[in-house]
Parts: sequence; C-alpha cells; structure tokens
Amino acid sequence: MVCQARTENHVIGFVPTMGALHAGHLALVKRSRQDCSRVVTSIFLNPKQFGPGEDLAKYPRTLEADADKLAGANVDILFHPDATEMYPPGFATYVHVQGLSERLEGRTRPGHFQGVTTVVLKLLEIVQPHYAYFGRKDAQQVKLIERMVTDLNLNTEVVVCPIVREADGLALSSRNVYLSSGERSAALVLHRALNKVREEIAAGVRDALQLQDAMQRVLASEPLARVDYAEIVDVETFEPVIRVQRSSFALIAAYIGKTRLIDNLLIEAVAEDPDKFSFQL
Ligand code: PAJ
Repeated sequence: MVCQARTENHVIGFVPTMGALHAGHLALVKRSRQDCSRVVTSIFLNPKQFGPGEDLAKYPRTLEADADKLAGANVDILFHPDATEMYPPGFATYVHVQGLSERLEGRTRPGHFQGVTTVVLKLLEIVQPHYAYFGRKDAQQVKLIERMVTDLNLNTEVVVCPIVREADGLALSSRNVYLSSGERSAALVLHRALNKVREEIAAGVRDALQLQDAMQRVLASEPLARVDYAEIVDVETFEPVIRVQRSSFALIAAYIGKTRLIDNLLIEAVAEDPDKFSFQL
C-alpha cells in the first residue's frame, strides 16, 4: 500500500511509536497530516531497545484504543508488526551511531540506542517516507536519528516537533501511567528544575556548572526523585558546555520512585543578539 502511494506521487509522512498513545504522539500525527497526503504510523514495542532489567514486560499495551485514536486522527496506514516479523530467526545486523549512543541516556541504558537506530532504519526502509516525525521530548534520540539519516544517505527528512505537556507542565509519556498519585506530583520537579535554568539564564547566569547546581538543588528538594543526570549540552554535539554561549539543551533524567523520566529545555541563541536566548520547554 505504501509502495502504491509512492508511485501515485503522494507525499508520505511517517510517525513511528511504541503505542500507548497520548496527545504527544497525536501531535506528531497531526503535524504529519498537515504536511503530507498519506500518513503512516507504526506501533511496535521494540524489544531491542529495552535492557534486561527494564520495563518491556510491563510497558502499557493498548492496541485497540491506539487504533481508534489513529483512525480519529485520519491516519491512512497503521503498521504494527510483531517481533518475529521484525526480527526473524537469524537476524544479525545492527546500526550503531558511535559516540553519542554511549553518553547520557546511553550510559544508563547500554544498548538502548543501538536498538532504537536499528529499528528506525528498518521502519524507514519498510515505509519509505518522505518525512518522519519525532518529538523533542527524546532530544538525544532525535539527534542520533538525524546522524544516521545523514551518514547512511537515507531518503527521508526528519521533522522535530515540540514537547506536549500536561497543563501543570509534566511532559506526556507512556510511562506516566506507572506513577502513583504522590509520584505524579513529585514528577513535576523535572519541569521545575528546567524552569529554574530558564530563570537563571534570563537573569544573566551563563556558567554551566552553576546552572547544573541550580537544577540539582531543585531536584534534591523532592524526596521521591533520584537524579540520573542533569546536564547542559551543546544542541549539535550533545557535548557538555562550560558556558551557555550557543544554543544548548538542559537535559534531565530522574527516577521518580521506580519510574525513569526524561525532560529537557531548549535554550536557543537569538541570532541578532549574541547574549540573548529564547526558551522552549
Ligand atoms: P515512543 O516513546 O512511543 O515515542 C514515539 C514518538 O513520540 C517519539 O518521537 C517521541 O519523542 C514522541 N513523544 C513522546 N512523548 C512526547 C511528548 N510529550 N511530546 C512530543 N512528542 C513526544 O520514541 C519511541 O517511541 C521509540 O524509541 C521509537 C522511535 C518508536 C523507536 O522504537
């Protein structure tokens, strides 16, 4: 069906997901619907991006409700292969983006990004989209996928979409369902810590260590939170910066109880004024 759409000169948009769909996923679909004449979504809970001690077994599976949501959002094709279709016996080929895959998320979740890039390459090859849509919520994931698309000359353009949040600031995530009501309130600390960075930069602070300390102090004020990392990195290289001079990300990963959450703030240099920044939470 996708091949037919290509030969009929349709512009094909693709939104890969692992299901348990929420408004963040649907915002990607909506953007794709605006840009493209055919929209394909995949739901594939990719076992290769989960480590041995991670939540693959308990990850929410809501295929029927997901399919209804996608139909309501006018998706043309839902692709939901099973694991043996994607990884038949004998499967042995992996894609690995060196360097960045090992840092930040990759340090705590070894092998995770190799699983992500491998499955995304497979999905892009199967679907052959002109545009593929990803959320900035997973900023490091997007950067790796962009790298892979460039390095392997893939014929797809990556489109990055903003983070969708609850009214109180919590970034939507399929994993939020794991949170008890106490943890749900505690989880807001990530958003508070990122807001703190925004305030400090607006007040003139540029030193990355000082900004990281400010994040850590906010995170430490929440007893249910345990920080994995809270860093300021360059938007292009994802290397830590000493001072915020160019566009950067403030990135946080923290456990709230047993649930690991990530969030980020995009700190964008304003072209006309080298000492001014705008922010996207
Ligand atoms: P999943 O976590 O299901 O996310 C699918 C897409 O939705 C990703 O691009 C993610 O960044 C985006 N997304 C999630 N929460 C969001 C939010 N609050 N606002 C905006 N976008 C959001 O990411 C994956 O699946 C997988 O790693 C995948 C790329 C599908 C490969 O298996």
